[in-house]
Amino acid sequence: MTRNPGNSAQTGKGPAKAISRDGRMPIDLLISPIGELVTAESHSGPVRGDQMRDVRRIKDAAIAISAGQIIAVGSADEIRHAVFTDDTTEIIDARDSLVTAGLVDAHTHLIFDGNRADEFVMRSQGKTYTEIAAAGGGIVKSMRATQSAAVERLVSLGRKRVERMLESGTTALEIKTGYGLEVESELRMLEAIYRLKSETSLDIVPTFMAAHAIPPGKEREGYVEDVVNDMLPRVVAMATQEAENAGMPLSHMLPYVDVFCDRGYFTLEDTRRIFEAALKLGLKTRVHSDEFVNLGATTLAVELGAASADHLLNVSDEEIGLLAKSSTVAVLLPGTSFYLNLSEHAPARKMIEEGVAVALATDYNPGSCHISSLPFIWGLACLHLKMLPEEALTALTVNGAWAIGLGSNIGQLRPGYQADVTIYDVKQLEEVPYNIGWNPVRQVIKKGRTVYSR
Ligand code: NIG
Ligand code: FE
Repeated sequence: MTRNPGNSAQTGKGPAKAISRDGRMPIDLLISPIGELVTAESHSGPVRGDQMRDVRRIKDAAIAISAGQIIAVGSADEIRHAVFTDDTTEIIDARDSLVTAGLVDAHTHLIFDGNRADEFVMRSQGKTYTEIAAAGGGIVKSMRATQSAAVERLVSLGRKRVERMLESGTTALEIKTGYGLEVESELRMLEAIYRLKSETSLDIVPTFMAAHAIPPGKEREGYVEDVVNDMLPRVVAMATQEAENAGMPLSHMLPYVDVFCDRGYFTLEDTRRIFEAALKLGLKTRVHSDEFVNLGATTLAVELGAASADHLLNVSDEEIGLLAKSSTVAVLLPGTSFYLNLSEHAPARKMIEEGVAVALATDYNPGSCHISSLPFIWGLACLHLKMLPEEALTALTVNGAWAIGLGSNIGQLRPGYQADVTIYDVKQLEEVPYNIGWNPVRQVIKKGRTVYSR
C-alpha cells in the first residue's frame, strides 16, 4: 500500500478531516473494491523506455480520497485497515471494473465554429488533406466560420465538446487557438478557452496558435511579424488580467505558444522567430512538427526546450536521439494519421526503444481528426503504433500530464495526487483498446467528486 502521511497539498474540497483516535485516516470517498487498478508511476518527469510498460497493477484494490486528493492506494484489505469510514463517507463499488487515473488529452483544437464534413467526403473520394487545403478548404475554412462567432457561442460549442470528452474519461486537456488568424479573433478564441477553464471541473491548459495557417490575403512574413509584435504582447496582457481576476499566479494562466511548422504553413525560420519572441515574454512553447514533411522543427524544439513536439510522422532517427536526451515530450496523434487515411504512422516503437518520453492525444479538430475519444485513440495506438496497452496508458496519463505542465499533480493514482479517476465497464486493462469503437467509461471522478456517471 502507498499512503500519504500528511494532508499537505490540498485540492478541491477544503481541509481534509483530522486523523481519528485509533490512528486511521478519515476519508470522504472510498473506491473499493476495485476489480483491477492500473496506474503508471513516476517520481520525477515523464516515463521512458521499458518503464512505460512497467505499470502498477493491483487486483481487488482500493483508493482512499480526502479533500479532492488521493490519500492511499493499495489492496482493498490494506486500505480497509488504514482508513476510517463513517456514514458521511461515500463508497463506490467497482468490483467488476478497471480503474485508472483520469485520462489527459495533451493536444486539441476544440474551439471552432462550423464543420468540415464535406472534406471528409472529399477524402473518401480520393482528395488529400493538402489538396483540399490548397483549394480553399482546411484550416482557412474553419477560420471563416470561427471569425464571425461571438465568445459566448465559442464557449457553448466548446462546453458540449468538453462534456463529450469527459464522458470518454478525459479529466484534463490542452486547447489551442488557431482558427482566428487575426488578432481580435485569436484573442476571442483565447478568451473562450479561459472561460471554459474557469467554469469546468476539468483542468484546461491554453495554447496560443495564431501561427496555424497563413490567413488569405496576407504575406507569410508580414503575418509572422503580426504574431510577434501585435499578438504575443496582447496574449500576455490577457493572461495577466485573467490571473488577477482568478487570484492565481500568472504562471497558471500563461498559454503555451504553438506553430504549425510544415510545407505550405510556417517555415523553420518563422517558427524560430515566433518561439524566440514567446520565450522572451516568458511563454513556453510546443510545436506541430514533421506531420507532412520534415523541416527541422523537432531539432529546434529540443534546442529551445519546447514542452512537446507533436505529430512526428516524419521525424528522423537523429532527432529521435535528440528527443531521447531532452525533456521535450513526443505527443503522438494516431487519430490524425487514421482519419487522413495515411499509410505511415509515427515511429512509436523506435521512440520508446530509444528512450523518448511518448504521450498520446486526440488532436481533436474539425478537419484532420474529428475524434474526441481517448479510449478510441488508445485502440489506434495499439493497432497502428504497435504500443502495448500498458505503454498507451502511461502515454495517456503520466506523460500527457507532463507534456502540459501538470505532471506533478495529475496523471497517477498515487497519494498526494489530485483525485482524478476513470472507472470502466471492463474488467482489465487490455479490454479498453480491444473494445475500440465502444465507449467503456462508466464513471469519472474529478478532484474527488463524481462529475460523470452512466
Ligand atoms: O494538428 N496540423 C495542423 N493542425 C491540425 C489540423 C487542423 C485542421 O485541419 O483544422 C492538426 O492536424
Ligand atoms: Fe494539431
